[in-house]
Amino acid sequence: MSTPVVGEGRDDVADRAGAGFRQRYGTEPAGRWAAPGRVNLIGEHTDYNDGFVLPFALPLRTVVAAAPGPDGRWTVWSELDDEPVEFGAAEADEPGRVDGWAAYVAGVVWALRAAGLDVPGARLAIASDVPVGSGLSSSAAIESAVLAALVDLGGLDLPAERRPRLAQRAENDYVGAPTGIMDQSAVIRGLQGHALFLDCRTEEVEQIPFDPAAAGLAVLVVDSRAPHRHADGEYAARRKSCERAAATLGVAALRDVPTADLDAALARLDDDETRRRVRHVVTEDQRVLDTVALLRAGRVREIGPLLTASHASMRDDFEITVPEVDTAVEAALAAGAHGARMTGGGFGGCVLALLDADAADTVADAVAAAYAERGFAAPGTLTVQPAGGATRL
Ligand code: GLA
Repeated sequence: MSTPVVGEGRDDVADRAGAGFRQRYGTEPAGRWAAPGRVNLIGEHTDYNDGFVLPFALPLRTVVAAAPGPDGRWTVWSELDDEPVEFGAAEADEPGRVDGWAAYVAGVVWALRAAGLDVPGARLAIASDVPVGSGLSSSAAIESAVLAALVDLGGLDLPAERRPRLAQRAENDYVGAPTGIMDQSAVIRGLQGHALFLDCRTEEVEQIPFDPAAAGLAVLVVDSRAPHRHADGEYAARRKSCERAAATLGVAALRDVPTADLDAALARLDDDETRRRVRHVVTEDQRVLDTVALLRAGRVREIGPLLTASHASMRDDFEITVPEVDTAVEAALAAGAHGARMTGGGFGGCVLALLDADAADTVADAVAAAYAERGFAAPGTLTVQPAGGATRL
């Protein structure tokens, strides 16, 4: 197997969005706006605990071609679904009225209006190279590209630092998924050649240079192709359990439990499951800080063991992995990866592995062989470099 090149064999995603717009609306778009998918290098389920994350934007993008439309109405077409969706302010103002993929668009209109901004009516056409349901944040990509388009079309005053929170509100309050601030931050604020070190409490960011190729390394992303099993309910349950534990410990969020006080904190919790959830979050925050310190020192290869430790913590303590992702991690490590972990919310999705640049095919082949042996559907593999965040094209 050879690891594919991004976008290979398809028309460019920006061309597809533009062509879709012309075909659907019979006119030229006023512009095109792109937002990427993301992977998280390390820091899982720490964002809603006010902790630290280190994601980066991917070279896979969602592009929205758009133009002003009739006042107070929005029409959206996506290449995923030939039927366009149309809605007005009444539907946008009532979370849940627009559903399916178009809810991510209506949610952005809703969040902008809820922030008191005067959102212009618009026609939109959406094309995407970000796979849906693989845990690479296709939803944050669509939200962030639509947000950028509507802000520009309306000449709205919304600086980049405020956009992730707004896109997150679209997802939390309109779509109804209780996710944190990581995905939208990575997608909007990502910078080519860097990972985004984000303090999810203060929303302060530091761009950490992360150029695996310059260090003779590569990041391989493996799509586990595992069907998401109860992911939404399990995600919400993990979040609740963390919030309950923080309340028991008398802190605002688990971020406030210092690593040095972990054992004392665990001793104050009376069930083993909650203790393991807390241990994951507190140790994961520390692993993010340790990873950032190594990257700042240019010691890229040495982050491998931290990635692998993060995986073990997600598997044993937070219990969010599934056999497909555990198999991919084990096979990648056995084939020589320096470190590997599941990335994203869990219960399927993708695994990332840090490896020598010339080992990508060997490791991808090893993962595919391990999958075949266990009778799993063949995994997808892709090598990636950190790309830039949402932008007008
Ligand atoms: C999903 C959510 C994020 C974050 C991750 C886990 O991707 O959207 O906010 O909580 O899971 O780190």
